Amino acid sequence: MEIQRFTLSNAALPLKTLFSGYLLVVGLGLLFAGGQIMLTHGMADGKLGLSVDDIVYSYYGNREEGSKLVSKLNGSMKDNAPPDVRMAMIKWAETGASEELWDSRVSMDVDQYCQPCHANISGLPDLSNKDTMKKLLAVDEGQPMATLTRVSHIHLFGISFIFFFVGWIFTYSTGIAPMHKAILISVPFGFLIVDVLAWWLTKLHPGFAWFVIIGGFGYSLAAAIMIFTSLYQMWILPLRKNHPVYPPADAT
Ligand code: HEC
Repeated sequence: MEIQRFTLSNAALPLKTLFSGYLLVVGLGLLFAGGQIMLTHGMADGKLGLSVDDIVYSYYGNREEGSKLVSKLNGSMKDNAPPDVRMAMIKWAETGASEELWDSRVSMDVDQYCQPCHANISGLPDLSNKDTMKKLLAVDEGQPMATLTRVSHIHLFGISFIFFFVGWIFTYSTGIAPMHKAILISVPFGFLIVDVLAWWLTKLHPGFAWFVIIGGFGYSLAAAIMIFTSLYQMWILPLRKNHPVYPPADAT
């Protein structure tokens, strides 16, 4: 076996301090990242804790129910207009909400059937207001492309730096076969790509949401193993008697 001359357990104290400071801060950062995901994405389906539904709501959106207007017309507003008026309104909303049809028919229906409440009860949206209506017509399609592009490149650049240094420090660990080390070092990079690709694929199809969770969990686990192994070998291993010394004393 190739002799490893520089090891974590017999590195000089200042270097151990540098490595450990970095690993501890990065480890804390990973914990906060996990917490933040729980509080933002985790709450997307209204329930605490991360689930596949959360990922789907965040990236794919909630498209089945259509716009707020249509889902309300099929839900709690169902009895507030005769069926033909309601159907005409839904059709208008789902076929692009044209201005002409709004002017020639829908605005009149809204004034007659909806505004008695909506214009007078405070807190209810004024449906004759075009901007308000536009918001109610929007279908929830999850993260906009622009956000996804921005977050993707920040994520790829930023996190690869973390994995680069964590992996580099870990290369100086001992007692692990080079092939196993290489695999462990490559795993976070692979899962990082899976994670970011899965955001985009989930935007196209909700079935890919699983890969977001697998990717995020995979690289967190691999990073945690490398961080704990490195810290252990720097601070605990040298305290133990009979720990193997690299390079062996008689190898010189
Ligand atoms: C009897 C009074 C009443 C009438 C008539 C009425 N609404 Fe409402 N509307 C409400 C109340 C109260 C709420 C809030 C509770 C809820 O969301 O169910 C509401 C909420 C809504 C919302 C959700 C607003 C939001 O931002 O969450 C939409 C959209 C809506 N109504 C559309 C309509 C349409 C379209 C009509 C006409 C066909 C209509 N409503 C007629 C009382 C009324």
